[in-house]
Amino acid sequence: MSGNAYHKPVYWDGEREVLMILDQRKLPHKVEYLEIKALPELIQAIKTLAVRGAPLLGIAAAYGTYLGIRDFEGEKEKFLNKLDEVIAQISATRPTAVNLFAALRRIQETLQLAKSLPVEKIKEKILALGHRILEEEEGRSFAIARNGADILGTSVRVLTHCNTGALAAAGVGTALGIVYEGFQRGYVEMVYVDETRPLLQGARLTAWELSQWGIPHRIIADGAAAYFMQKGEIDVVVVGADRIVRNGDVANKIGTYSLAVAAKRHGIPFIVAAPTSTFDLSILEGAQIPIEMRDESEVLEFAGRRIAPEGSHALNPAFDITPASLISAIVTERGVIEKPNIDKIASHIGGGYIDLAEL
Ligand code: MRU
Repeated sequence: MSGNAYHKPVYWDGEREVLMILDQRKLPHKVEYLEIKALPELIQAIKTLAVRGAPLLGIAAAYGTYLGIRDFEGEKEKFLNKLDEVIAQISATRPTAVNLFAALRRIQETLQLAKSLPVEKIKEKILALGHRILEEEEGRSFAIARNGADILGTSVRVLTHCNTGALAAAGVGTALGIVYEGFQRGYVEMVYVDETRPLLQGARLTAWELSQWGIPHRIIADGAAAYFMQKGEIDVVVVGADRIVRNGDVANKIGTYSLAVAAKRHGIPFIVAAPTSTFDLSILEGAQIPIEMRDESEVLEFAGRRIAPEGSHALNPAFDITPASLISAIVTERGVIEKPNIDKIASHIGGGYIDLAEL
């Protein structure tokens, strides 16, 4: 992928010591970067989805930790307390995407090894970890794209949900990275883009990325997906993940589960794409994954204007769980897990996170 084929969703501006975040709330109408100088701004950006998508949340969490402690001056013990506080604040932003927690855990592990170092050195190590996680996710995304394109089939019409492109994951993305690579190889004829209510990550972000890449696509209402499957117009469904647990159950954007049910009904392959950093082997099954409940206003309003009657309330889960039994394959940077189950996940992930040198 050429460097100008996409906008970087986040990057560290080392000269000004700020985290630059492409404000995804403004897309597709404006390409505008936020200059994040301090932790409260980052927390706001995460909660309001200016920065979003599982791998990107891990990257943002690491840089956010650095922003939270960068200006601290004082003795080591107070510094370590401050660091705990910052990690707790970031942990409380969004509960489902495990990448955020995995990044924070890596900071804690780094800290264990670096505890004897002076405060300024520990700060440097945390910033370096931010850079490293960003690089790792970029590398993983290109490997996922290649592995996924290998099993996509040729002349395919793909359905996708939410946004899983460069905007969500660095590099070329996960599920949408597969679409990009598949298109470059001449495999992808058309992409059906679920609009992805209520925040429209499909209609706003995925359609924007596909437009930039020149890939033919049509936005459809979420409820139209099963209709197009029934008509025989969808050959494969490819989605991302926010957390994949030991038995292969997957948490992803609300609406993913109903797509998987419909795909099964119509005999359409259902592929999940995610880096190994999205696996959470501490949890056995999907029912144990915390599901983020977002504000009801996101459902009751449209573009800032109320559409529901006064007095009506809404429920707004941001994610759902797709059981492993409905998933044809999970694609990671390491390869493909066909018909995932507990044993296959254990042997695929067993060695821990992949090292970039292995790719
Ligand atoms: O609420 P969001 O927009 O952060 O949800 C994002 C998704 O559900 C994506 O499918 C998932 O994080 C994978 S991104 C490569």
